[in-house]
Amino acid sequence: MAEIGLFEAMYSARSLRKFKPDPVPDEVIGKILDAAIRAPSGSNEQGWEFMVVKDAAQRKKIGEVYRKGGDVLKALYTDRVKPPHMSQETYDKLMASAMYLIDHMADAPVLLIACLKQLPPSGPPPKLPPEAASAMKNLARMTGSSIYPAVQNIILACRALGLGTVLTTIHMFYEDELKAILGMPPEVQTFALMPIGYPQGKFGPIKRRPASEVAYLDHYGNHWKA
Ligand SMILES: Cc1cc2nc3c(=O)[nH]c(=O)nc-3n(C[C@H](O)[C@H](O)[C@H](O)COP(=O)(O)O)c2cc1C
Repeated sequence: MAEIGLFEAMYSARSLRKFKPDPVPDEVIGKILDAAIRAPSGSNEQGWEFMVVKDAAQRKKIGEVYRKGGDVLKALYTDRVKPPHMSQETYDKLMASAMYLIDHMADAPVLLIACLKQLPPSGPPPKLPPEAASAMKNLARMTGSSIYPAVQNIILACRALGLGTVLTTIHMFYEDELKAILGMPPEVQTFALMPIGYPQGKFGPIKRRPASEVAYLDHYGNHWKA
């Protein structure tokens, strides 16, 4: 297929959750993985690992875990109000699409799980200056920062190759069950479960809040105008 430009990919790689049953050739999956591993990671550790699941029986079991995660999501979202920047119609479409996936995760011909291997520290904790020690409270915010750039590369690579996907996370409510299905060791943690396949729907365009609303120049509150 014809190559598309990077910006076209970024502007049209919307979340797609309905897939054709057609298999995705291994060569194409290889390209996606090769794009994933071009991503940056903290200290270039490259602690990522990727589970590619094609086997129908394994996908079915993972689909069940995702469905259970979906039940938790439904309970959490019972009283949720739509974000102010979305129209009711857009919000309803998003919810309907997310609910569809809860029942159809296993239908995607490929499930890709993006993981990080996090080995426990080898020695005693390092002695830090007090001001740095207090900043350790911000560490939680770094969780996932060495895998989500790779996940975005996967999203863009899929778009370039004519494949649909979506970053999903609700399997994490039952992550241990997912790891048991796949025989994964304790030190490997999952960060995204991505269904991948040739889409039934269309790509983009992606609509977002404008940069002039969310970006500032030199001082917080001084909106970026260009
Ligand atoms: C951190 C994160 C978690 C997400 N988790 C889920 C999920 O569990 N299930 C799902 O269907 N979509 C999930 N999404 C997809 C979002 O719903 C989607 O990116 C957003 O609605 C924008 O959709 P669009 O790109 O089609 O405009 C997640 C996205 C992100 C960035």
